[in-house]
Amino acid sequence: MKSNADCLTLALSKGRILDDTLPLLAAAGIEPAEPIHKSRKLIFETNLPGVRLLIIRATDVPTYVQLGAADLGVSGKDVLMEQGEEGLYEPLDLNIARCRLMTARLKGAPMPVGRRRVATKFVHLAKQWYASQGIQVDLIKLYGGMELAPIMGLADEIVDIVDTGNTLKANGLEACESIAEISSRLVVNKASMKLKFKQIQPLIERLTAAVAAAN
Ligand code: ATP
Ligand code: PRP
Repeated sequence: MKSNADCLTLALSKGRILDDTLPLLAAAGIEPAEPIHKSRKLIFETNLPGVRLLIIRATDVPTYVQLGAADLGVSGKDVLMEQGEEGLYEPLDLNIARCRLMTARLKGAPMPVGRRRVATKFVHLAKQWYASQGIQVDLIKLYGGMELAPIMGLADEIVDIVDTGNTLKANGLEACESIAEISSRLVVNKASMKLKFKQIQPLIERLTAAVAAAN
């Protein structure tokens, strides 16, 4: 068994990012030793000796990498912007799980007078963005299904991910302002980058080639 110092640990966001990450890893020559989707395991060896994968919640990936429990990670830019990117390098845009972070309101709703009530998962990001626009808001933290908040009168608008726009449309909302273009990024712990440069650099090169080939 290799020690942590000899191993490279890559933390992957489960859910929709994982579905796009696995083909990219395969194209880069990195394959889990057993099928991830058929298992309840959270840690997987790969075909590359000393390279292992962690399968964790998307919002936990930056924490694992920042604190050095994983050397590298795959994380949505929305999550990185919300949680802060200290202690991380972001050497590669993987160009997967592309979407947009937007504000949205009920279709045809009048602009609220005074402070706006905004429901979102992304409270830090939203706070910064509204401040940059000079708009006064009361932020309401939700954990999912943000589209419901304006319908039920909980909020005047939401800040959420938009991809096809189908979820907004199905709930009678319309997208308003675009806050950021989102995709998933490769992140690397800054200390690991120094201490394990010889192992990490080839991995970044393989992934860079796989991203280029996919686009
Ligand atoms: P959790 O289940 O841990 O609460 P989640 O429901 O946000 O997380 P996913 O829906 O799998 O998990 O989304 C994770 C990431 O995928 C987001 O942070 C974003 O980067 C990206 N993403 C979310 N929704 C979409 C979408 N509709 N299209 C493309 N990418 C998306
Ligand atoms: C995400 C996001 C939107 C939806 C946007 O939700 O929060 O609701 O995808 O995609 P669309 O524009 O293609 O419809 P997700 O499915 O992750 O569920 P959540 O509400 O639990 O975050």
